[in-house]
Amino acid sequence: MFDAPARPAPLRIEIEVSADAAAVEGLVLAAFGPGRFAKTAERLRERARIAAGFVVREDGRIIGSVRLWAITVGGEPALFLGPIAVSADSRRAGLGADLVQACVDHAGDTGILLVGDLPWFGRFGFRPAPDVRLSGPVDQRRVLWRGAGEAAGAVLPA
Ligand SMILES: CC(C)(COP(=O)(O)OP(=O)(O)OC[C@H]1O[C@@H](n2cnc3c(N)ncnc32)[C@H](O)[C@@H]1OP(=O)(O)O)[C@@H](O)C(=O)NCCC(=O)NCCS
Repeated sequence: MFDAPARPAPLRIEIEVSADAAAVEGLVLAAFGPGRFAKTAERLRERARIAAGFVVREDGRIIGSVRLWAITVGGEPALFLGPIAVSADSRRAGLGADLVQACVDHAGDTGILLVGDLPWFGRFGFRPAPDVRLSGPVDQRRVLWRGAGEAAGAVLPA
């Protein structure tokens, strides 16, 4: 007979598979609402291919997700991160940080670009990228980069 564990087993980050797509879309829609589709970041994702996706499951349900997209920045290969979402009832338990870390680990030496909140992404080493140009309206202060050197130039699907 085993004693009950003092704490539940840690939730694991898993690689997203194609069967997860509908659940991921549902999670992202709940987190961002339909307004997300008006965003310049979404226009870029529509034209890019997924390089990797990561999910967190609890009892078979997806409660966290993030995707990386293949892009170039100023002609150099890079990854575009987003959207990242954790279900409202599972936030502030470190899942968001684990998902970002999975992206950072996957990227290795490749730079990561995103459009997001510096107060949140700054803790993972992302910094404003004033010389990066997305093809559409964007608050340039929210264009953030994590990688060796300064990123500059146009962002295109790879
Ligand atoms: C952002 C998000 C993915 C974080 O997930 P999470 O599992 O709660 O993340 P963690 O538990 O690792 O970190 C939570 C911490 O980040 C902070 N945080 C979350 N979103 C933030 C933001 N936009 N700006 C600043 N801080 C933020 C929380 O206040 C919390 O702070 P604390 O550690 O001092 O308590 C989640 O809040 C979410 O899905 N939000 C809606 C979608 C969204 O806005 N995504 C993009 C963010 S730019």
